[in-house]
Amino acid sequence: MSSLSRRTKSLDLFLRKLPNLLTKCNLTSKIKKNYTVRQEILMARGLPDRSALPGVEDIVVVASGKGGVGKSTVSVNLAVSLANMGIRTGLLDGDIFGPSLPLMMNIREQPLLDDNNRIVPPVNYGVKCLSIGLLTEQNKAIIWRGPLVMSALQRLLKGAVWGPLDILIVDTPPGTGDVHLSLSQNVPLSGVVLVSTPQVAALQVAARGAQMYKTFGIPLLGLIENMSYAVCGNCQNSFEIFGNTTETYVDQMQTKVLASLPLDATITGCCDAGVPVVLQHKTSVYAKSFQNLAKEIVKLLERQKQEIKKE
Ligand SMILES: Nc1ncnc2c1ncn2[C@@H]1O[C@H](COP(=O)(O)OP(=O)(O)O)[C@@H](O)[C@H]1O
Ligand SMILES: [Mg+2]
Repeated sequence: MSSLSRRTKSLDLFLRKLPNLLTKCNLTSKIKKNYTVRQEILMARGLPDRSALPGVEDIVVVASGKGGVGKSTVSVNLAVSLANMGIRTGLLDGDIFGPSLPLMMNIREQPLLDDNNRIVPPVNYGVKCLSIGLLTEQNKAIIWRGPLVMSALQRLLKGAVWGPLDILIVDTPPGTGDVHLSLSQNVPLSGVVLVSTPQVAALQVAARGAQMYKTFGIPLLGLIENMSYAVCGNCQNSFEIFGNTTETYVDQMQTKVLASLPLDATITGCCDAGVPVVLQHKTSVYAKSFQNLAKEIVKLLERQKQEIKKE
């Protein structure tokens, strides 16, 4: 055997014994530990600082897994219900690619800038509102990559004069993409409200969303079951269109149903007309559900503050 092949063989033997050696000396766990700590430091360097929005007491995110389940409808009616209770409320449309707020809140005007170049959110129905839809041409598609989406959201969130506000509601796009990550990392969120239809396909992805926010340590305030049932105009019987699997998922997520809303053309019509149903039909069952929801959210946030004080 040549000296070179002898050396290769002994190196091979050494490498094979290395894991055992490391375990004996308890080195593997040390290396692993150092590696993890270093990774954490590096990761933290890459993350932006979570800093509060000046003058904003609570930020509540409205999220779902799927699109079209009623996030924007809930956000708008919740925000207006809160404002009607005398709570200083803001509404940020975080759906950069599909902004709904200009239509649903009937706001078209371009926001003004203050002397410090900060955006001043226009007010309608007693709610301060901002949406990328107010800054871009109405019928033009928004074709942006992730980093641009993040910076647009940052501008709407941190480059605007939101305060003084008691609650800022943030409407979000479906899923767990850039906007959700950016929100979770940039500002302290008081909680998340999930919106879902009672259908397995919607609840399953809503649960994933809940999991993402849980990972960031953001409390899940509860779930709003939208389009839970419809009432027949002729016989007045109510029937379930999307099934009734909500309870199973709510138990899994260890949360509760905050409201169950029917599927009704009145709600659709109000959204399209730019007058939230809580204003257009003040004494309707829908309005009452949203008012109760608003009260419940206020109660949950209050309880959260008391618990923090106790700690
Ligand atoms: N409970 C409801 N009854 C009838 N129509 C509804 C209801 N909730 C939402 N809609 C309508 O369904 C569509 C999707 O709702 P939207 O709030 O835009 O969903 P998302 O923001 O989750 O995509 C809208 O046109 C809205 O008017
Ligand atoms: Mg929406």
